[in-house]
Amino acid sequence: MSNKGSLEVSIDSVLHENRKFHPNKEFAKNYILKDLNVYKKLYQSSIKNPKAFWEKMAIQNIVFFKKWRTVFKWKDYKAEWFTGGTLNVSFNCIDRHLITERKNKAALIWEGEPGETRTITYQQLYSEVSRCANMLKSLGLKAGDKAAIYMPLIPEAVIAMLACARIGVVHTVVFGGFSSNSLRDRIQDSNCKLLITADGGFRKGTSVKMKDMADEACKETPTIKNVVVVKRTGEKVNMKLGRDVWWHELIVNESNQCEAIPLPSEHPLFILYTSGTTGKPKGLLHTTAGYLLGTTVTTKYLFDIKDTDIYWCTADVGWITGHSYVVYGLLSNGATVFMYEGAPTYPEADRFWKMIAAHRITILYTAPTAIRSFIRLGNEGPLKHDLSSLRLLGTVGEPINPEAWIWYHEVIGKKKCPIIDTWWQTETGAIMISPFPGITSTKPGSATLPFFGVEPAILNKDGTPAKGTKGGYLCIKKPWPHMARTIYGDHERFKKTYWKEIDGVYFTGDGAHQDRDGYYWIMGRVDDVINVSGHRLGTMEIESAAVQHPSIAECAVVGRPDPIRGQGIVAFVTLKKSVAVNEGLKDDISKFITHEIGNLARPDEIRFTEALPKTRSGKIMRRLLRELATTGTIKGDTTTLEDFSVLEKLREKDEE
Ligand code: WTA
Repeated sequence: MSNKGSLEVSIDSVLHENRKFHPNKEFAKNYILKDLNVYKKLYQSSIKNPKAFWEKMAIQNIVFFKKWRTVFKWKDYKAEWFTGGTLNVSFNCIDRHLITERKNKAALIWEGEPGETRTITYQQLYSEVSRCANMLKSLGLKAGDKAAIYMPLIPEAVIAMLACARIGVVHTVVFGGFSSNSLRDRIQDSNCKLLITADGGFRKGTSVKMKDMADEACKETPTIKNVVVVKRTGEKVNMKLGRDVWWHELIVNESNQCEAIPLPSEHPLFILYTSGTTGKPKGLLHTTAGYLLGTTVTTKYLFDIKDTDIYWCTADVGWITGHSYVVYGLLSNGATVFMYEGAPTYPEADRFWKMIAAHRITILYTAPTAIRSFIRLGNEGPLKHDLSSLRLLGTVGEPINPEAWIWYHEVIGKKKCPIIDTWWQTETGAIMISPFPGITSTKPGSATLPFFGVEPAILNKDGTPAKGTKGGYLCIKKPWPHMARTIYGDHERFKKTYWKEIDGVYFTGDGAHQDRDGYYWIMGRVDDVINVSGHRLGTMEIESAAVQHPSIAECAVVGRPDPIRGQGIVAFVTLKKSVAVNEGLKDDISKFITHEIGNLARPDEIRFTEALPKTRSGKIMRRLLRELATTGTIKGDTTTLEDFSVLEKLREKDEE
């Protein structure tokens, strides 16, 4: 943990926030919990007796084919929930609604960037998912096999996920903005047999050539036997004989009925890659019963889903937010989910607000970055459209600054919609800390109180409680049902990263502090992970991509505050001796990095330097670089620096 310094800097910025907003009485009237005391009681019981609590929740909210024997087991940092039981996630998300009035209710309402729309009812979803599952079977896939999904945000992405779940195939969704190399690495790490992709997707009026990327990736993925291609943009793509097949050509021949097979509670549901402190992204493995329970119950209580709601989470299904709060948690509750394929401001800046008005969206869940960029665009867009259908707002992915919170509250929520600032992670599977809308008073910038069964603690590195406003490391004291079970293929790394950093508790990698009301204020990462527009990136991941560039000798990447995107990326680069700096070199390096990882890793600034500051043991002192990138100078402690002349050189560079 090399950047402890950042903890204090960020904490200062929200410490003086003391506005408090009381729950909206109108909203509270129809809310599932009567008041905060009911929450407190339920919360206490969930902490005192988690097994009884979650058992009851499972009985109330999930359909099992066979009941479990044991509620919870914990051995060698491996959790097992509801052992002995069998169930199917796809069944819970679809089939169980078909015997109710929801049968003909819209499950998905989708709008493409060019403007076309599609509505898929639960009954139709059943047919589509069944067809797709049968297609997967025809291609030879069976329970336990892995399939990669690399798609634009179109209904087929959701259909493919649910089809995998229906027959026990483990999916790994790779965000469409990742490069071919990132896709390749993920397919290789999880040994996928099949890749499901599309010819392309629309973004900002142009088509993103996904099939070309997929082809590039598949040059080095011998485990891939077939590539299924959805026709979305209609442009010409290469179809490799014997490997590539069109989705629409295969699926027409398949039956629209496919049994949702009973799977053990701990059957793997998906692997999702996310960035960590060291090395390559890690594949977090989530399993069936616990994940489904966590996402279902958080959705029910925090998003207050009613049958009349039209819910929109703006995340892509390539992220955990999309998995849990576009697909699984929502469909399991029988909700109507709105999805939008493209860029938020295309063709005009008011696209979001226009869609909210047109589809009468009632619940909106988005990221602070999006809110901040809308603020910059001015109030004209949101004021032009009728946003009166909205009744609940949510944020996720990064700390929200109080100014953005207030704007969201006033301009979008018209002061009547509760805002839930939800803190959680890929690893936690579902929301962990969040207000309960209608009963929790909110404070702009605070995620407020823990969800049922979640016992947070703010600790010092030695495991003692961190007291006072300075804060400490946010940890979770006990395992919970929807936690990731392991890092795929590397349980040792899982133990070390999450359970040994501070012995015996789950280490989140975030800093936090708690105020007098017991509210949690999340301060951002305290490790070498940066959060750009709510997307997690490892500084070392970018560095290892950069050093493969033929001109680069060494590279150190740090994050610096960015008013819109939360953080921006600054890369300090030393060049190989033989290399002369030329005009296009920075551009070339930037392109190289985005080619390796994806556009989201594009550096905001590249700085050439003769040397990097290192400790006597040879570790790059990122803390100093961060200070320099942020403030332009270095005032912090430099006593462990090995060569002080490096500092002088860095400063000189800065003054240039
Ligand atoms: C950050 C996204 C402050 C945090 C669901 C966490 C937040 C990382 C919040 C996980 C929030 C997420 N307030 N910070 N409400 N929500 N974060 O895995 O640093 O993509 O560790 O999961 O995002 O990012 P991930």
